[in-house]
Amino acid sequence: MTTGGTGARYRVEPGGEVAGELTVPGDKSISHRALMFGGIADGETEITGFLAGEDCLATLRALQALGVRIERPEPHRVHVSGRGIDGLAAAGVPLDMGNAGTAMRLFMGLLAPQAFDSTLVGDESLMRRPMERVAAPLRLMGADIRTRDGRPPVEIHGSPQLRAIDYALPVASAQVKSAVLLAGLKAFGRTRVTEPAPARDHTERMLSAFGVEVLREGAAVAVEGGQRLTGTSVAVPADFSSAAFFLVAGCLAAERGLLLRNVGVNPTRTGLLQLLQLMGAEIRVHTLRQETRPGGEPLADIEVRKSRLKGIRVPEALVPLSIDEFPVFFIAAAVAEGETLVRGALELRVKESDRLAAMAQGLSVLGVENQLLDDGLWIRGGKGLGGGIIESHGDHRIAMAFAVAGLAARGQIEIRDVANVATSFPGFLEIARSAGLQIQAL
Ligand code: S3P
Repeated sequence: MTTGGTGARYRVEPGGEVAGELTVPGDKSISHRALMFGGIADGETEITGFLAGEDCLATLRALQALGVRIERPEPHRVHVSGRGIDGLAAAGVPLDMGNAGTAMRLFMGLLAPQAFDSTLVGDESLMRRPMERVAAPLRLMGADIRTRDGRPPVEIHGSPQLRAIDYALPVASAQVKSAVLLAGLKAFGRTRVTEPAPARDHTERMLSAFGVEVLREGAAVAVEGGQRLTGTSVAVPADFSSAAFFLVAGCLAAERGLLLRNVGVNPTRTGLLQLLQLMGAEIRVHTLRQETRPGGEPLADIEVRKSRLKGIRVPEALVPLSIDEFPVFFIAAAVAEGETLVRGALELRVKESDRLAAMAQGLSVLGVENQLLDDGLWIRGGKGLGGGIIESHGDHRIAMAFAVAGLAARGQIEIRDVANVATSFPGFLEIARSAGLQIQAL
């Protein structure tokens, strides 16, 4: 189990320059899905560029416990021998999802229609996160799922006779959308999910790559039950959400430019590019691949230079498209001249930590004027950042965001409880150092 051990810390020296080129590890969302879809497909699936982070390894181990044969000949290459859509077997023990919300929620959709029972647990952070948002629509399909006060452990009594639903998502959530669609693959009839705003569409793309017919009907996406998946090869791009830390680092301190290679630039993920550009950032996207084959993901090299940023009011439509990037976006806002306001970001309160509260607290430690709002954050930037001790609350993205802040700070920053950086970005410290951050583990 990922415990987020409170002992590990980073120390970041103030200032410095970032330069050169780097490649961040594989995409977390896509790696989870490639494993799961490979596990329920007919035949073999080969994954390259796999993210060997703790979150995806939790998914890998859970699938093994469910009877899927998985080999990892190299850290980033995984071979999954699919068991077919009806081929999973009872694990017999609780499945530990560690820190991974995506794993728990997608497995709920995958396991609800099985002929056996399952229990899902996770680490301290995950055991506090809301699961009814997935359990509720699955129950409408006939699933038998119990949560404890809306949170894990999640107890699933397999119900192989699910019926399709037409479901309007109350929040823009790719995890809920994906769970309902996965359950829909084994339900009777056509399952349709309507989004209030577009959320990441990796599930839809990848189901197509596995040969499933995915119907797009305006703001809705639908699948017909009874379809089978066919094993395929999945090349995972570098994770835009990990690249995000270096995009902001580049805006703060890349006098001579910084190049990020082979980054996934699915438009449902790259809201941060637009936000930084609105702030005046010098960013150039060099497209490498415009994916046209079913299920493909677009890929680009991204070049960023030190820029004079100005505060902005974040357009609400961009919130779901940059949902995981807000911690580091708030660091950019702290450096930008003037005021930045984010509203409509209530979802940030139920991520690996309450990211609005954690960022407001950390920015206050660094002397950045800010105001925590119910559903957002107001920041007055451009007045300088001091040093201090930051609580990451065991949240990988809070930890990495404040590491980047060091580039613009006047004092040393110590970040507590950083072990969970390994959930999404193994090797962060080495890559950050190679780019120029003066960071060490304590
Ligand atoms: C994810 C969806 C998002 C995101 C998370 C990964 C996914 O969560 O924050 O890091 O892979 O589907 P929500 O669905 O809760 O918005």
